[in-house]
Amino acid sequence: MSSISTTKKDSATHQFIQISDILDGKFTGKEVKLHGWAYRVREQKDLVFIILRDVSGVIQLACKGIKDASAVTIESSIEIEGLVKEDKRAPGGYEISVQKLKIIGLAERFPIVKDQSEEFLRDVRHLWIRSRYMTSILKIRSEAFQAIRQFYKERDFYEVQSPSFTAAACEGGSTLFEVKYFDKKAYLTQSWQLYAEAMIFGLERIYCLAPSFRAEKSRTRRHLAEYWHHEMEAAWMDFDELLKFEEELIVYIADHVAETCKKELKELGKDPADLKLKTPFVRMTYKEAIAKLGKKWGYDLTDEDEKKLVEEIGGPVFLTHFPREMKAFYMKVDPKDKKVVLGADLLMPGVGEVIGASERISDSKELEESLKMFKLCKEDYGWYMDLRKYGSVPHSGFGLGVERVVMWLSGAKHIMDTIPFPRTMDRVTP
Ligand code: 4AD
Repeated sequence: MSSISTTKKDSATHQFIQISDILDGKFTGKEVKLHGWAYRVREQKDLVFIILRDVSGVIQLACKGIKDASAVTIESSIEIEGLVKEDKRAPGGYEISVQKLKIIGLAERFPIVKDQSEEFLRDVRHLWIRSRYMTSILKIRSEAFQAIRQFYKERDFYEVQSPSFTAAACEGGSTLFEVKYFDKKAYLTQSWQLYAEAMIFGLERIYCLAPSFRAEKSRTRRHLAEYWHHEMEAAWMDFDELLKFEEELIVYIADHVAETCKKELKELGKDPADLKLKTPFVRMTYKEAIAKLGKKWGYDLTDEDEKKLVEEIGGPVFLTHFPREMKAFYMKVDPKDKKVVLGADLLMPGVGEVIGASERISDSKELEESLKMFKLCKEDYGWYMDLRKYGSVPHSGFGLGVERVVMWLSGAKHIMDTIPFPRTMDRVTP
């Protein structure tokens, strides 16, 4: 039983319980004490019915002759004491016959009513965040973070952090946020990768969970200006091991959420069985993908193309071996085909790309040549080039957009619904 005792006077027999404890049938016929918010209020003759919500669920309160019950407005916070009864007609199958009710915070007229536009709900995100829809997604998000940490704990990785202010681009200049940094200029990080590549020489197998920033000029349903980036970097890991590792992680997150978020998935109209993934994931080279789409070499796949490919296959797809010039400067060239790199995007149904991954260039000369080819200034990458001079090793890593994975897990149609307070080209408030 979960109970929160906030003051000393809450004796053991007067602790607040959670609604889910009642719905589990543990308190039938017993007196309980609850606190929460009025989700719905309805008056019927001399009875006031309040649907009370807390973090764990909703339950119907029947208030007969209770002072203050008819004063309760939607979203008022209240404390109640009452008797639990089974009642098939009530939502969840239980009702509380209220004996005492205390209004803690009387709510003014709540601005959110049914059928309001997405845009309005984003304007009042500070209030919409308490909705059952948002709460369900945020619980799934929390479990996704939990699953990631658990996955690495079981594999002896270290969680490490890198700076948010950086001096050079990791993922190309067009999405860099420039900031004034004392009397110089700096950028908000796009990725921890360059720092991670330095840290593997001591810690070997590492990961992070941190915000990344992208000045995306596009308004799509899967781009944020600030998103949570889960990244992994491992010494001695080659391209094939990297893809297997990613697959294992995605299956682990999906299984964990299917197991721990049954109620939330149901609330969102999803079946936990939808998260069962077939392995191994399909692998498709860029060459095969463009042939399928009827396009020529050099064609940049759009969001729509990715969606089409995944739909056709009906599950996750690794898109691999992209033309070198289409990907980042740090990706290792395929020794078997110099036109392509050992890079892969993982595409998920309904979302598209959720992970960008590659084996890295570990050779000093190859890196120098790559910087030249991408017209990047050698001086900006001085310390990064150093890493190839002192005991370089083959290594690989990836970046996973947590919100995109939560989109897939929860079925949310827009990435903005998967983060508490989204930041996009058009939105920095609330
Ligand atoms: O493919 P990206 O740009 O790769 C990197 O940043 C590498 N340095 C990562 C690494 O190898 N350590 O980004 C990785 C993932 C994408 O697959 C996508 O899921 C997510 O980050 N992502 C975004 N998510 C939301 N909004 C955006 N604007 C995003 N840009 C990338």
